Amino acid sequence: MGIRLEESADRSALYAIYSAAFGQLAEADLVQDMCEDGDLVLSLIANADEPVGHVAYSRLTLHEAPSVKAAVLAPLAVAPSFQKQGIGATLVQDSLKRLTDKHYDLVLVLGEPHYYSRFGFMPRLAERLKTPYDGPYLQALALSDKGKDARGSVSYAQAFVELE
Ligand SMILES: CC(C)(COP(=O)(O)OP(=O)(O)OC[C@H]1O[C@@H](n2cnc3c(N)ncnc32)[C@H](O)[C@@H]1OP(=O)(O)O)[C@@H](O)C(=O)NCCC(=O)NCCS
Repeated sequence: MGIRLEESADRSALYAIYSAAFGQLAEADLVQDMCEDGDLVLSLIANADEPVGHVAYSRLTLHEAPSVKAAVLAPLAVAPSFQKQGIGATLVQDSLKRLTDKHYDLVLVLGEPHYYSRFGFMPRLAERLKTPYDGPYLQALALSDKGKDARGSVSYAQAFVELE
């Protein structure tokens, strides 16, 4: 299993992964919309003999701390027959390393704390932000000291706004 950048030829594979993992197309559409809007900052495929998992990150603007370089992790999925083999963890760890290398300071995710806490995501760090998704499922991970100073209101990529 390898991790590589997503390419346009992966589009139908992405729809297959997300529809199998979530039972709907909304997440694959979200990836597509973020891509068309120029808001994707990282999009990775987990490849076995074929694409079996995917993670995307999009831009996040911090209005009161604009120098903090931040991204949103969403969506993430692994095809059901490949789940619970560490592929999701490999995708998250590899992508966080790539974002650190690109000097990102902060990553935000909305998801199960049981899953994301293993990568260091914490609800406490997210509590200082004002987002449309405030609550116990919103978690943040600082990739730098600057990321720990994140605070205030944020804007997600437009495709998230249109999901609501
Ligand atoms: C969540 C997901 C990406 C994890 O991928 P994976 O390759 O199965 O993950 P890993 O093998 O690295 O880790 C497996 C762990 O994830 C947990 N897990 C799987 N789906 C989960 C979910 N929806 N919520 C919380 N935990 C979940 C498993 O229970 C297991 O936990 P354990 O290590 O404590 O036993 C994958 O299960 C998936 O695509 N699920 C459906 C889509 C989804 O819910 N995505 C959003 C994630 S919040």
